[in-house]
Amino acid sequence: MKEICLSNNIKIPMVGYGSYLSTEKGGKQVILDALSVGYRYIDTTSFYYNEDAIGEAIKESGIIREELFICSKVWPTMFGTEETRESFEQSCEKLGTTYLDIFLLHWPMASSDDKDWLDKAVAAWKVLEELYVAGRIKAIGVSNFLPHHFKPFLDKTCIKPMVDQLELHVGYMQEYTLKYLDEEGIIPQAWSPLGRARLIGDARIEKLAAKYGKSPAQILLNYLIQREIPVIPKASSKERMAENMDIFDFALTEEEISYLSCIPETGWSEEHPDQL
Ligand SMILES: NC(=O)c1ccc[n+]([C@@H]2O[C@H](COP(=O)([O-])OP(=O)(O)OC[C@H]3O[C@@H](n4cnc5c(N)ncnc54)[C@H](OP(=O)(O)O)[C@@H]3O)[C@@H](O)[C@H]2O)c1
Repeated sequence: MKEICLSNNIKIPMVGYGSYLSTEKGGKQVILDALSVGYRYIDTTSFYYNEDAIGEAIKESGIIREELFICSKVWPTMFGTEETRESFEQSCEKLGTTYLDIFLLHWPMASSDDKDWLDKAVAAWKVLEELYVAGRIKAIGVSNFLPHHFKPFLDKTCIKPMVDQLELHVGYMQEYTLKYLDEEGIIPQAWSPLGRARLIGDARIEKLAAKYGKSPAQILLNYLIQREIPVIPKASSKERMAENMDIFDFALTEEEISYLSCIPETGWSEEHPDQL
């Protein structure tokens, strides 16, 4: 599996498994399936209420801990010195691990009218910094942070986030934020890389899929990989899980990358960090 290097030299796989709503029907078996087809990076958070199921699946899989990359996140209502420590320890306990590979601040704020959001996010981040220095987390980052969140945040913190997990897909590429992250050396990671399946039937994607003999999902994921953006698609069947990893044997042309980068906005989740 192709990897990408974070600013602290930790390498993460370009394709991970997104677990949001994944265990609702199939429970831990879905995670066992993902591990059996080759996923080693699992994305979760306390907010998905599936860390227990993931922990059980990891234990049952017999895969050694060092081979796995486990990412969890702390929700903004748990931002604070004690609260964030508690959230981290609970995630570790449920996942059956003593450390996390990546731990993220899930959203900058719990609600858009929270005037104290910055102080809360900074307090939470200081806990992540401590845990990182203590070796309990291999890489620390944020999610859904935009440049105007980063600027005051970076002024008040010591260690720069290594990752920003964002909604990124054809039709919603947040180019202004990507440029900022590139300048800051922060790796963007794409959530909803398939636009939660809203882009699968798009005629423009289907045309490229036919040209390359690939599926629309593979075109959408290959596009992000070619832009050096790691992805965490969610899929329910082993077939789709495997399909979403089988994206490294072709390359879209520069013209196609440009074409897909310039498609007018489509497939947006309507979840915006400033509109909670
Ligand atoms: N940090 C954040 O705030 C945040 C927010 C949202 C999501 N995330 C993370 O990002 C992950 C991925 O995002 P997402 O789950 O919202 O959306 P997504 O991965 O873009 O899309 C998932 C949808 O695509 C379908 N799908 C998957 N593979 C397919 C294929 N090969 N062909 C056709 N359809 C396919 C799935 O259907 P089936 O399940 O039926 O196969 C599901 O309906 C989440 O699971 C979560 O871990 C993070």
